[in-house]
Amino acid sequence: MKIAVSGKGGTGKTTLSASLARTFAENGYDVYAIDADPDANLAAVLGIYEPVRPLIDLEELIEERVGGSAGMFTLNPDVDDVLDEYSTSHDGIRFLRMGSVKAASSACYCPENSFLRSVLNSLVFTRNEVVIMDMGAGIEHLTRGTAAGVDVMLIMVEPTRISMQTAEVIEGLAREAGVGEIRVVANKIRSDREREIVAGELGDKLIASVDFDDTLLERALDAGDEESPGLAAADDIFRELVSR
Ligand SMILES: Nc1ncnc2c1ncn2[C@@H]1O[C@H](COP(=O)(O)OP(=O)(O)OP(=O)(O)O)[C@@H](O)[C@H]1O
Ligand SMILES: [Mg+2]
Repeated sequence: MKIAVSGKGGTGKTTLSASLARTFAENGYDVYAIDADPDANLAAVLGIYEPVRPLIDLEELIEERVGGSAGMFTLNPDVDDVLDEYSTSHDGIRFLRMGSVKAASSACYCPENSFLRSVLNSLVFTRNEVVIMDMGAGIEHLTRGTAAGVDVMLIMVEPTRISMQTAEVIEGLAREAGVGEIRVVANKIRSDREREIVAGELGDKLIASVDFDDTLLERALDAGDEESPGLAAADDIFRELVSR
C-alpha cells in the first residue's frame, strides 16, 4: 500500500506519518517512511537522531544516474538500488529523506528533480513494502505518473477555515495528478462542536477525527530526545486502510 500524507503547515502530517509507519511495522508490514517535505523532521519523530543525508545532496550519484553537466539529462534514470542503498533502518522501518530542490521553481526540470521524482516513482511502483510519504503541503514531486501509484492520500486538517481551504486546494491538485482515493484526517479536535463541524463539512471524505492530545503538546515544549508518542487514532486509520 502506498500512502501520501499532505496538508497545511503544522496540521500534524509528520506526527501522523510517523505513527502510521510504526503501526504498520508493529503489525508485521515492511515499511518505507519517506520524508518528502523540504522542511524535514520525520526522522526525529521516528526516533532517528543520527543525521540522515538527504538524497538531493548525493551530487555524484545524481550526476552518474541523471547526467546534466552538458545540459542534457535523462528524465527516467534507474534508481531502484538507491532505495536500499541510501535508506536508514530503524525499528523495522526504512527511512529515506528526499531533501529540497534549491532551484527557484520546484517545477523545474533540473537533474535533481528528475532524480527525486524517479526515486518516488520507483518506491511507488517497484516496491512491495508499505510506503508512507510525508509530503508537506506541496505535492509537486507527485507527478501524474507517480500519483497513479498512490493508493490513498491522507490530507490533514485542523478545525479551522483556512486549513480546510488548503485541504481543498491540495485535494484538487491530487485529483488532477491522478491520485485515486483522497481522505481527510481532522486533527487537534478540542470539542464536540468542532467534531460536528468538521464531520458536517467533510462528510464521507473524513477517515478519522483525532482529539487534541496534551501529551503531544507537552512533548513539543520539551526538548528531550525521546520519540514522540503516537497519534491515538493511528490504529483506527491503519485498520480502515488495510480493510479495504
Ligand atoms: N492531536 C494533536 N494534539 C496536540 N498536538 C498535536 C496533535 N497532532 C500534532 N500535534 C503537534 O502539532 C505540532 C505540529 O505537528 P507536525 O509536526 O506533525 O505537523 P506537520 O503538519 O508535519 O508540520 P509541518 O508543516 O511543520 O511539517 C507538533 O508539535 C505536534 O506534536
Ligand atoms: Mg512535518
